[in-house]
Amino acid sequence: MSHRVFINDVAARDGFQIEPRWIETADKIAFIDRLSATGLAKIEATSFTSPKAIPNLADAAEVMRGIHRAPDIDYVALIPNVKGVERALSVGTDELNFVMSASDSHGRANLRMTADESLARFADMVVAAEGADVRLNASISTAFGCPFEGRVPADRVMEIVARIADLGIAGVTLCDTTGVANPLQVAALCEAVRTRYPGLDLTLHPHNTRGMGLANALAAWQVGIARFDAALGGLGGCPYAPGASGNICTEDLVHMFACMGVDTGVDLDGLIAVSETLPSLIGHDVPGQVVKAGKADRRYRLPAAIA
Ligand code: COA
Ligand code: ZN
Repeated sequence: MSHRVFINDVAARDGFQIEPRWIETADKIAFIDRLSATGLAKIEATSFTSPKAIPNLADAAEVMRGIHRAPDIDYVALIPNVKGVERALSVGTDELNFVMSASDSHGRANLRMTADESLARFADMVVAAEGADVRLNASISTAFGCPFEGRVPADRVMEIVARIADLGIAGVTLCDTTGVANPLQVAALCEAVRTRYPGLDLTLHPHNTRGMGLANALAAWQVGIARFDAALGGLGGCPYAPGASGNICTEDLVHMFACMGVDTGVDLDGLIAVSETLPSLIGHDVPGQVVKAGKADRRYRLPAAIA
């Protein structure tokens, strides 16, 4: 088995949304432009959410207008409602990533909507996007567990996926918002969705909050999943999910697949070079490991005593 992998880097959205310090619009644009040179399939550049809910991304339109678009990359934005669809379309976003939560408690904390209310909203959002040259995806937060309610039943997630597919949305992302999923659980749910909806573009969005992130990505890949969300440096976290922290780290994910001989289309050295700019951009160290340890083929000089 060696199927190719497609990576959506979400650092500029999932990462920047939770940073304690404001990142200047010009710096966000320069960061995304550098990422665009590394061969990623998608870049989630921002979100068109309420600036009161997510103040860090209040400059979404300026960011989308300011970046240089690489022709092979889809530039994605996270969208909670019709107003977000309109704002995103007005600046030529390639993919609208509708967001909802599988669990009502997180949905109400994050979006002020239950899952059923979000699904009703999605129907209006699909209508608002009709006729536009844009791809639609739906992200299901807390698909593997909720920080307020605990385990989310797989049957409930399957029901939500069915309703999303009925709306004609082309892709679904299963999000482990607070990093509670384990590899067997991920493999089982991914396989169930893939088998039931073979035409749906299925993406996994793991967080590494409890150290299971790369294991979960591997488990999904082993049951045929080819699309992953990851954030450069391992940034990321939802401000409305207590205890949430970093996404899986993009360069660590690309490095793992490279070691396995799996094509990601990504220039790993280029990606590492962009990651090295993160601490000065955001003002603190980041969790990514390969940047610190070097790639697995790094060699050290033998100690002089035994050389
Ligand atoms: N873009 C910009 N402004 C928006 C907006 C959007 N997509 N949606 C709502 N607003 C504004 C409204 O215009 C209104 O502004 P006003 O107070 O100046 O009149 C205000 O936000 C409240 O609007 P309302 O429709 O009542 O929204 P709400 O307060 O119920 O909040 C959401 C609902 C979904 C807009 C908000 O919770 C949100 O943006 N959440 C995003 C959370 C998120 O991104 N989490 C991390 C990723 S998982
Ligand atoms: Zn996330």
